[in-house]
Amino acid sequence: MIDTEALRTQPELAGQNVVLAQLDDSHFEPAWRALQDPEVIRFTGTHTKFTEEQIHQWLASRPGIADRADYAILRKEDRAYLGDVVLSDIDEDNGSAGFRIALTGPDVFGKGYGTEATKLLLGYAFDVVGLHRVSLEVFDFNPRAQRAYEKAGFVREGLQREALRWDGEWHDVVTMAILKNDPRL
Ligand SMILES: CC(C)(COP(=O)(O)OP(=O)(O)OC[C@H]1O[C@@H](n2cnc3c(N)ncnc32)[C@H](O)[C@@H]1OP(=O)(O)O)[C@@H](O)C(=O)NCCC(=O)NCCS
Repeated sequence: MIDTEALRTQPELAGQNVVLAQLDDSHFEPAWRALQDPEVIRFTGTHTKFTEEQIHQWLASRPGIADRADYAILRKEDRAYLGDVVLSDIDEDNGSAGFRIALTGPDVFGKGYGTEATKLLLGYAFDVVGLHRVSLEVFDFNPRAQRAYEKAGFVREGLQREALRWDGEWHDVVTMAILKNDPRL
């Protein structure tokens, strides 16, 4: 059984250096800046150009949803916004969900924040919400993300050949997943 109340209420999740807190419109400014960052755009394969109004509406509508969990990643020492991490597409019948994460830009990449946020969200997904499987997609040109996911316990499952077209070039998309009883590293 999935604990939909835990999804609706999204408790704050505290780690050593980051805290995960409900994503909402109070995070608009740094979230909007991240959406303009060329590396974030490329690594997330974001083809869409959003308006400020769309992002305000998206953020404001995040709290209280029972079929996904959108968390802001905050630096623990000063609660500075570092990015977002999400459980999406929750399938109650199969106990499964999708996963995505994006930090705000190169100034905060490579400092362990992404791996820690991923581990915290997986703890919540399996031990609080009661999910069985969490899966993700990551591009072939993003070894940093693949490494961060492996460090959190995700296992590579497959390859979708030429599933992304970016700047006129085809790229493969790697599928990774972790099950409830897999080692969480
Ligand atoms: C992907 C992301 C969440 C990872 O978080 P992070 O805080 O930057 O990563 P971490 O510091 O926790 O871990 C990165 C690991 O990758 C390794 N790494 C970095 N660049 C690498 C490269 N080019 N090749 C292989 N490994 C690399 C680091 O050495 C580190 O591993 P280690 O601890 O064993 O040394 C973050 O970089 C990000 O948001 N990037 C932009 C958006 C994005 O890529 N989202 C994911 C889309 S699927």
